Formats: sequence, structure tokens, C-alpha cells
Amino acid sequence: MSSGATGARARTMPARRALPAVVRDTHRALVEAGNWSGGEVVRIGLGVSRPYLVTDPAHVQEVLQDRAATYPRGDDTALWRSVRKLVGDGILAEGEVWAASRRTLAPLFRPTRVEAMVDAMADSIGTAVDALDAVADAGTTVDIGHELSRIVCASIMRLFFADRIPVDDALRIMAAQETVVTAMAPRLLVPFLPWWFPVPGDRRFHAAVQAIDDILLPVLRAALRDPGAGDDVLSTLARARTADGRPLGEKQLRDDLVAMVGVSTETSYVALTWLWPVLAGQPEVADRLYDEIDRVVAGGPVRAEHLPDLVYTRSVLDELLRLYPAGWILPRRAAADDVLGGVRIPKGATVILSPYVTHRMPRWWGETAESFDPDRFAPGRAGADGRHRYAYYPFGAGMHRCLGEHLFTLEAVLIVATLLSRFRFTLADPRVPDPRVATSLRPARAVRLTVRRVSPSTRRPEPARGVR
Ligand code: HEM
Repeated sequence: MSSGATGARARTMPARRALPAVVRDTHRALVEAGNWSGGEVVRIGLGVSRPYLVTDPAHVQEVLQDRAATYPRGDDTALWRSVRKLVGDGILAEGEVWAASRRTLAPLFRPTRVEAMVDAMADSIGTAVDALDAVADAGTTVDIGHELSRIVCASIMRLFFADRIPVDDALRIMAAQETVVTAMAPRLLVPFLPWWFPVPGDRRFHAAVQAIDDILLPVLRAALRDPGAGDDVLSTLARARTADGRPLGEKQLRDDLVAMVGVSTETSYVALTWLWPVLAGQPEVADRLYDEIDRVVAGGPVRAEHLPDLVYTRSVLDELLRLYPAGWILPRRAAADDVLGGVRIPKGATVILSPYVTHRMPRWWGETAESFDPDRFAPGRAGADGRHRYAYYPFGAGMHRCLGEHLFTLEAVLIVATLLSRFRFTLADPRVPDPRVATSLRPARAVRLTVRRVSPSTRRPEPARGVR
């Protein structure tokens, strides 16, 4: 419906019900609010702020795609304000600056370019995974999130940053980003507080942003002095020109660089961290996954030619992003009065879209919505269940749709197939952790596990070694 039309007032979940639930368990509270709404657009009473929650896939399409101009990211939603403090104005912003960044960066992520890199990516992943041999020998437990961040960095830094950012520096950036996304949490819970009002976490936040700049600015300045002819992110940014032929300003380049280092690493490793507790609780899924990888990769190394046959692996990852979408919340700000699903949305209102909530609602996914079932994504099944296209949107939709979607789908299969062709993992605590409140969907505690090699002859895990 277009703006100017009249609509009804939204039903509101009162603060006395919503607020304690959000403080206790934000993710669960939002899913419950989605179920309570029955798919209608509703307001959630959070005291001073009362955002609109949008869960119907048809409304998601209207906000992110059909009327995206009416629903920009908005500087003043708590999440985007926090993100903007780190990445400034560039690919994660709006308007002209965003459009220029998107035009510059999009060619790097074209499917043909990404596909041409698969074998090189597989080599980098294979080398990074070698380090787990020592862990298997020692029999110690490791934080798989940390291992995955190392593996993802190795695969991305070489191909997208032409090794201009050493993996050790990239890991220091990721540690600082970790501080940034978790230090922002208090602000997500009290979105109405102005930035000048100090909250716990602010000092850590500013120190982490400074640490990221200290690493990246010298690298950026070196690239500006000598952009080279390469088609990596840094060379491409350093050669970029405005519509009237001027180089982009250092501030915009810095913002794009920080954003690209962040989004290309953080979401991917965080998403893959959820896999291990999920497999621990689903032995039959795990066995099918091991069987497929053993059959197709036959001990490794994983190559581009294996990808088309790793069909079940793909379905497992699709299902993983359904229940654990790294980009779990996508806030928008209404730039004009509008009517959405018959409900009036006034100019200036905060509108919350959440793949996490829509993906878990029985209304769109049936009674088993919250159980892990990769067969939902089996070839031939997609669309057969009559679901709306945006019942599943882990990569967003419309003009801001994720640039790295194709890259992630290939990279994730390579990482999982490489790890499981060589190792089996036993979790210290097999329960799936709760998510913590942060800009991306992260486990509330580290996922720690032990590693055993798979015997090349029997394809069974070798006995555990060493002591914890
Ligand atoms: C599990 C992996 C990933 C998930 C779940 C994910 C999810 C998303 C989502 C939901 C958005 C839309 C944000 C919005 O509408 O406000 C987005 C945007 C974006 N993603 Fe990803 N992403 C992933 C990996 C990546 C990777 C690997 C890259 C780059 C190498 C990347 C680059 C981007 C960029 C540049 C944008 C902003 C696009 C724009 O505003 O024009 N993402 N991503």
C-alpha cells in the first residue's frame, strides 16, 4: 500500500509484558512477540521506545524491496547508530555515499569472479586447517569460534585483500570487532539513550575502534600511494573515483575498508560456530553429513569439482542460517508516513525486521519451525512447500542484499568439507548455547571441543589422544 493511504493503529504488546521478557532473553522475547502478533505488524512496548515488529514475509518484501526508499537504515536506530560509530559512512550507510561504495565493490563479488577463486580459497583453508593436527595430537580443547575466525581470515585475506593485511593483523582486528559488537549490547537494550550519555562498554568500544584504525590506516595509505592493478578490495578502493573523476576521500575509503574487513570475516565465522553444537544434538544429521563428505571428498583435499556433489552439506548450511542467521536483526526508520499490512506507520518510526524471528515462526514454517531439518532445503523441495520467497532471508533483500552471499555459500561448504574430511569433534558441553545480545547472532559462551583425526583407511575417528 502506498504512503498517504489510511491504516489502522498497530496492536501494541504492553511494556509490562514485553520489557521484562526482552531484558530476560531478547531473542526469545522477539520470537514470542512474532507468534503473539500472528504475523501482523505490531508495536512492542519497550518503555520510551515502541518499535514496530515486521514478521510477515510479504511485509518484509515491501520494506526491503518494494518500498526500500521509504525504509532506509536510518542513522538513529540504536543498531545502525552503533554500527555507524565503527564504520562511518560507506557501504553500510544509505544514499549517495552508499550507492558509490556499492558500485565500486559489487564487481568484486560477482559469481564468476568468486567461482574462479574456489581452488585458491580451498588451498588457503586447507593450510589453515592443518593447525588442528597439533590440537588433535595434544588432545586439548579449543574454542572452535577462534579456530574458525583464523580459517575464515586465511581464506578471505589472501583473495580479497591480496595479503596486504597479514592474518595476524586481521585477527587483531577481529578481536577488536568482537569488543565492538559486544560493547554495543547495552545500547541495543536502551536505544533511546543519546550517545553523549555514557553507558558501560563505551570506553572499551572507543579503544577497539582506535585499535582497528591503527592497523588499517597505514595499510590504506600504502595502497593509496601504490594502488597496483589488482582486483582486491584495497586496490579497487584506492583506484575508485567519484562520478566527476576525483579520488574518494580518505574518510570514505577508511569506512569502506573497515566495513569490508568486518563483514567479510565476522558474519561467516560466527554463523559456522553454531554448526558444532547443532551436530552434537543431531547425530543422524551428523552421520549423513560425514557420509556425504567421505564419499565425495574421499579424504581430501577439497576442490571446486566437489562442490556440486556436496548437496546435503549445502542443505545443512541453509538450515543453519535459517535457525541461526548471523544478521539476525535489520532495523529500519520510516522516512515517510506509510501503511504496512493495513497498519499505519508514522514517519520517524523504528521498524524492526528479523530473519531470526520470521524463520522461527510456525505460521511460516509449520509446527516444527524450531527444529533442525536440513531436508527442508533438499533439491526440489525449495518452493514446493508454497512458502513466500521471503519466509527465508538470511542475506536480506532488495538493494542492500548481502554482497557476500555467493562467496559465503561456497566458502562455508569448503570449510565444513575440509574440516570433516579430516577431523571429528567432541564438544565439552553438547548443549546449543543461547544467543547473546549483539549486532550479529553470537553464542553466549565459547563453543569448546576436542579434535580427533579421521583415519584415512577406515574413515572412522582415531582414538582420542593426550589429556585435556
Ligand atoms: C553468514 C554469512 C553472512 C550473512 C548471514 C550475511 C547477512 C547479511 C545481511 C542480512 C545483509 C543485509 C543488511 C541490511 O539489509 O541492512 C548483509 C549485507 C551485506 N553483506 Fe553480508 N552476510 C554474510 C556474509 C557476508 C560476506 C562474506 C560478505 C563479504 C565478503 C558480506 C558483505 C555484505 C555487504 C557489503 C553488505 C551491505 C550491502 C549493502 O548495504 O549494499 N556479507 N549481509
